[in-house]
Amino acid sequence: MTDRSQLWAGRFDGGPAEALQALNDSLPFDRRMFAQDIAGSRAHVTMLSEVGILTDDERNKILGALDEVEDEMASGRFEPASGDEDIHTAVERRVTEITPEAGGKIHTGRSRNDQVATDLRLWTKRELAELAALVVQFQETLLRRAEEAGAAYLPAYTHLQQAQPVTLAHHLLAHCWALARDVERLLQTLDRVDVSPLGAGALAGSSLPLDPVRTADLLGFGSVFDNSLDAVSDRDFVAEALFDLSLLGVHLSRIGEELILWSSTEFGFVALDDAFSTGSSMMPQKKNPDIAELARGKAGRLIGHLTGFLTTLKGLPLTYNKDLQEDKEPLFDSCDTIRLTLLALDGMVGTVVFKTDVMAAQADNPFAAATDLAEFLVGKGMPFRDAHHVVGALVRSALAGEGSLPDLVAADPQLGPEAAQLLEPGASMANRTTRGAGGPAATADELDRFRAALVASKQSLR
Ligand code: ARG
Repeated sequence: MTDRSQLWAGRFDGGPAEALQALNDSLPFDRRMFAQDIAGSRAHVTMLSEVGILTDDERNKILGALDEVEDEMASGRFEPASGDEDIHTAVERRVTEITPEAGGKIHTGRSRNDQVATDLRLWTKRELAELAALVVQFQETLLRRAEEAGAAYLPAYTHLQQAQPVTLAHHLLAHCWALARDVERLLQTLDRVDVSPLGAGALAGSSLPLDPVRTADLLGFGSVFDNSLDAVSDRDFVAEALFDLSLLGVHLSRIGEELILWSSTEFGFVALDDAFSTGSSMMPQKKNPDIAELARGKAGRLIGHLTGFLTTLKGLPLTYNKDLQEDKEPLFDSCDTIRLTLLALDGMVGTVVFKTDVMAAQADNPFAAATDLAEFLVGKGMPFRDAHHVVGALVRSALAGEGSLPDLVAADPQLGPEAAQLLEPGASMANRTTRGAGGPAATADELDRFRAALVASKQSLR
């Protein structure tokens, strides 16, 4: 029998150089796909026996060997050999050791090119679905905090300058809607991941009577490739997943940044739970928002993986090129990063104490109701641009020390005491009642709509 220690040894005189192996081998990272590789092989040999290429006995021997290899890998007993370039060669080598004659037929009609694409799609399918579920879990935490927030309110900002007051629930829900788009995007990407490339062979299909529809079916794929060249060279699904995770990471970084600001002495809007903050090795008084900072910082590496991998893909000729082996590490790392970040941020948001008195004191700053004063004048028939000017002049007088804004408003002939009531604590916010607005009544409607949206996205996760 030929020496099969290197699976492609037939055409070669000598073994590979050490430097080649060191650069070429992907087993250290692609062994994470062992379960998918074995599932793909099970489907492949089942199909081969159904179309008459393997006898039932050969199929059973291979399936038995695959079970054994799976056990070895899952329990850490698997011993890699020096020719094991990647997970595909490792599994085939071991199957062939266990059942030499039948094992020699496992790769019939198959190439590592369609095999790796199959494995990675199976892996990505499972992973993106799990990550989408984790996003939903985080949304549930934000929703719970929004429900608990009741009538609490805070200033909302533009340019990081106090703008207009809104309910705390409205602010938390803003992040929920962004995350809802992330879940939707992940699920849409899943549709394009869910296509089986198995049966495309190295690049051009096979002269053997393979049945790609049957293997797709056995593996639970939603559809089958249409073009063998595209099937082995398409990594759009990886790029898309990296984008989805980058944008999700950007959203998490924005939540992180707010927690950093809000927990500062200057804002004082939140107190972090001890379990989700860190101390300083030198300054005893410190309590640091490290999780939030990492949520902000990790976005950098997620975006790096996306741009790095798009650069790898750019200009690649059809079909498979070894460059494509660069798909797995960024994808694995982005998934791991998002998973860790989501879980930690979920814990942080779930336990943070909102200091609603501090928030309200800032939101009740009369200047934050300036827009309401202008809208009051609009209600009396004044063009908005004139109203803006009138109120702007009063703000300027107040800032110049000519009196408090409420006093100046009460004394103003066009505004007067009725308008001054808009400057009472909480009054301005309560006035904003339109759909999606920041007042309490609008927030109650929004909470209902978000609860319904969450139920719908949980259903589509199944
Ligand atoms: N380890 C390879 C990868 O990740 C598997 C495919 C190898 N194909 C080949 N023709 N050398 O892409």
